[in-house]
Amino acid sequence: MSKSSLPVVLSGIQPSGHLCIGNYLGAIKNWVAMQETHDCIFLVVDLHALTVQQVPAELRRRCLSFVAQYVACGIDPERSTIVMQSHVPQHAELAWVLSTLTYMGELNRMTQFKDKSQRHASNINAGLFTYPILMAADILLYQANAVPVGADQKQHLELARDIAGRFNQRYSETFTMPEPFIPGTGARIMSLQDPSSKMSKSDENLNSLIALLDKPDVVRAKLRRAVTDSEKEIRFDPEKKPGVANLLTIHSALSGESIPALEAHFAGRLYSALKEETAEVIIEALRPIQTRYDAVMADKKVLEGILAQGAESAYRRARRTLSKVYRKIGLVPPAAR
Ligand code: TRP
Repeated sequence: MSKSSLPVVLSGIQPSGHLCIGNYLGAIKNWVAMQETHDCIFLVVDLHALTVQQVPAELRRRCLSFVAQYVACGIDPERSTIVMQSHVPQHAELAWVLSTLTYMGELNRMTQFKDKSQRHASNINAGLFTYPILMAADILLYQANAVPVGADQKQHLELARDIAGRFNQRYSETFTMPEPFIPGTGARIMSLQDPSSKMSKSDENLNSLIALLDKPDVVRAKLRRAVTDSEKEIRFDPEKKPGVANLLTIHSALSGESIPALEAHFAGRLYSALKEETAEVIIEALRPIQTRYDAVMADKKVLEGILAQGAESAYRRARRTLSKVYRKIGLVPPAAR
């Protein structure tokens, strides 16, 4: 089947913090699998990252590093379109148009905005407020059919659907209605320090996450410090024993062993055994990713080539949608120059 007849999948990650095994097991691993069945577009949403204050040199480095990590995890730039959001100006342009179709009340209801304004009380900028509109533009620009997102982004996707529906109703059918894509597999990985909350790449406590680029000794040290409980028994009980359950989940997701098999394997053994073995499983899983990462990063030309290719293909598609939008809403097309 030609690529253009496959359903379009689009997703993105903000270049903040450190890509971690939570991102890998919860998102990127599924993206890799979807390349078989979908026309995939994967974004590094650098414009979204500006909604919190960034150190320019670090942002630049992180953006490139994220692209290399996508590739290292198995996103194939020959099959999928890898896009740096800011390389395709239509994201910001469409976001402006969509902002005129979005109500303040709708944005006010976004729980992520409420959370983030609490956490960044000294920097509640307008971009933080309109963030979901830019995300809607990311999705609608490429006529995405399916958007793999975590639970925390469901509300934003709902808004994108509402905006699409509103535009289509007002100006005639233009945007594909994007569906949330909740992959059947994909583990929910929790923080190593607070196993009641999700492992987050932006957690300030680096002990709570395993970065994809963490070296073996760092992985071992973080696992040793992982929070468990004061009992002794290794069994899978996310309610009562969230720390232990999380380690079993990580082990199982990376080793392929089932949870019951792991419970049997660790029966009667100490937590330290679970921690040490899980550390080695993580190290083995990260090894090929880190090797590929080093190879991609070693040649700046390769990385630039991937981004140029992604931007070119994305630009063509984005321009098609935006011209249609501008025409439908009544803007005068520019004369050929
Ligand atoms: N807001 C998403 C997040 O924080 C990132 C994102 C931006 C995104 N644009 C997107 C995800 C488009 C899916 C589709 O996780």
